Amino acid sequence: MKQEDLLALLNDMTPEEKIMQLVQLPGSAFESDFAVTGIADEASFDKLKKLAGSVLGIRGAEKVKAIQDEYMAGQPHHIPLLFMLDVIHGHDTVFPCPLGQGATFEPEISRKGAEIQAKEAAADGIQVTFSPMVDLVRDARWGRVMESTGEDPYLNGEMASAMVRGYQGESVADKEHVAACVKHFAGYGASEAGRDYNSVELSEYTLRDQYLKGYDKAISAGAKLVMTSFNTLNGIPSSGNKWLMRDILRKEMNFDGVLISDWGAIGEMVPWGFARDLKEAAKLAIEAGVDIDMCTESYAANLASLIEEGKVDGKLLDEAVLRILNLKNEIGLFEDPYHGASKERYEAVTFSKESREIARDAVRKSLVLLKNDEETLPLKDSNIALIGPYASCKNLHSSWALSLDPEKTVTVMEAAGESKDVSLFLGMNQGGGLGGLNKKIVRVAKGSTILDNDTVLGFGEYHNESLDEENEKLLNEAIEVAEWADTVVLCLGEDIGQSGESTSRTNIMLPDIQMELFYEIRRRAKKLVTLIFTGRPLDLECIPDLSDALLICWRPGTEGGHGIWDVLSGKFSPSGKLPMSFPWAVGQAPIHYNVFATGRPKPTEGVTNFTTRYLDCPNEARYPFGYGLTYSSFDISKPVSDNDVLKKGENATGADKINVTVKVTNTGVVAATQTVQLYIRDLVSSRVRPVKELKGFKKVRLLPGESKDVSFEINEEMLRFWTINNKFESEEGDFRVYVGFDSTTENFYDFKLS
Ligand code: BGC
Repeated sequence: MKQEDLLALLNDMTPEEKIMQLVQLPGSAFESDFAVTGIADEASFDKLKKLAGSVLGIRGAEKVKAIQDEYMAGQPHHIPLLFMLDVIHGHDTVFPCPLGQGATFEPEISRKGAEIQAKEAAADGIQVTFSPMVDLVRDARWGRVMESTGEDPYLNGEMASAMVRGYQGESVADKEHVAACVKHFAGYGASEAGRDYNSVELSEYTLRDQYLKGYDKAISAGAKLVMTSFNTLNGIPSSGNKWLMRDILRKEMNFDGVLISDWGAIGEMVPWGFARDLKEAAKLAIEAGVDIDMCTESYAANLASLIEEGKVDGKLLDEAVLRILNLKNEIGLFEDPYHGASKERYEAVTFSKESREIARDAVRKSLVLLKNDEETLPLKDSNIALIGPYASCKNLHSSWALSLDPEKTVTVMEAAGESKDVSLFLGMNQGGGLGGLNKKIVRVAKGSTILDNDTVLGFGEYHNESLDEENEKLLNEAIEVAEWADTVVLCLGEDIGQSGESTSRTNIMLPDIQMELFYEIRRRAKKLVTLIFTGRPLDLECIPDLSDALLICWRPGTEGGHGIWDVLSGKFSPSGKLPMSFPWAVGQAPIHYNVFATGRPKPTEGVTNFTTRYLDCPNEARYPFGYGLTYSSFDISKPVSDNDVLKKGENATGADKINVTVKVTNTGVVAATQTVQLYIRDLVSSRVRPVKELKGFKKVRLLPGESKDVSFEINEEMLRFWTINNKFESEEGDFRVYVGFDSTTENFYDFKLS
């Protein structure tokens, strides 16, 4: 539809029709006549269903088409309904959770993953996904760190913009793509004490310099929607924050798409004590520029009277409706209200061989090897025990892979069993102790349940089966298998319900029952490889010290088992790098590598009192951002550059850009991929700066003995920050550029900006 036709349509709509475009209903309203909005009387509920502009949470091509047909027949102007869903890391084919994707340091794999998710979702009736989540995360107590790509603004921005490109393709009108919604704007990751839905206090400096950057990149990549966050920011709930939404998001970031509230967030301004009632909340939200009210009745019940009483300018309503109509038009709904959804197409594209291959590749690239003493990995011995609740667990997705069929997931045990060189047996009772010629024997034992009794999970669930007897049996069987084996692979992890929304924890250790299993097996194992399935950095207690090898597997998704076995068996050398620091103890939270410099830094040698430190724990992470081993070893040369001076002013001397180069050599005996990371520090500036900031990364694959030069370009723009003048600009002076394999690198080179 042309712009003038959209305007004509808008002018022809009644005020009620317009307001209803701003209302989003939950799928239950259409599927089971159950409204979470709290609208009690049937007449208003019927009207909502007839006129609400969008719905979330319905999938299924046939169902979507039937609902769309009925809706459009009743909508006075036959404006189509918009179908949205949280497709976060997989619609059917599930990819590693976003934190795992961050560990790949490979935006392209996330782009491809998003493209596949869009293809499956669009065929299944979805037109908008509530992804990517770009919240910067530094506090592992917050369960939603699993949904982000980590603690670094640059990495987050690269990953999120790649996802936007993957979801949206060249055009969202394309039937294989969906519109992306960047969330949660803004600063949700900084919730105080890591507690979900809590307040956020951030200086404008930190907000702009670190927290807003990722969203900005994703918005610049063309995301069609943005979602408000649940938190307050410096005392103001996001959905009522005019400065944040109108000045920053719309004016500064040039976002002209649709702004949607998070679920119920407009209504939450009442319990926050920011609005007297839903009517005042509606006024605050529309004035802040929130176009769609997700699942409250604030707009539906109050916008008409607010406009009639002159308390809200009707122009604001028209602007919001036009943005929503524009989005529907861009998706092509006026021409094809199903956006190509079809059962046949869905069946043809879902779980395709190619999608599974890409998901498998994403898994193996996401795995982070934290320890590998005496080359315990890849597995060499012929008697392998595969023990632990995650050895054969199908729940390898996350609480956000809403549509998943766990039966399609490949477990580690299944992947091992598919291997031609493996004979797989359950426990000690099968197989008579013999494999085949040149075959590895893999014996599997669950060992324990995932959770202790009485564990509280996300969304108010409660795990309270009494499992003592079962666990005793499982443990005894696992001990037998461990004693038989030359190497034990122990698969431990958090429960699926322990990370994601509403899963904040003050204890970020593994459940006690699994730690008991760990100690029992450690005592018997000749060699121990520990695998950790998790949605957040954990306090790993003594696991690293007592394991010979340690591999972080995140929530790996559908192809989890295959990707993991590829790495365990040595078919693929691990290359993942931590996107978020793993602490020594939960008391270090929030912890991140890019901290501000301090006036009392730790001395380079010895211990002095009155410096910044804990008495009982290092300041630094146990495993820092950017860290991860491979099956090989690498050398890196000192950085060299083609110029020591970068030019700032027009007439200054120096170069417009400088190239910094290192030579990277694979000094080991296997081919492997290393991620070369570029960090910069501004040595003296008008505001205290982070001790290091990631500004670039490159992955290089090298054969044994092979060397390659890896160069990074540095330009003036990369040195800009939110200065004392309250604007992004660079300041002349000295800079240090570090190039290395993780954020602790001291391999640096100094240059000047003049
Ligand atoms: C979450 C959002 C999500 C929305 C819709 C909210 O509870 O915070 O991330 O997109 O629900 O499901």
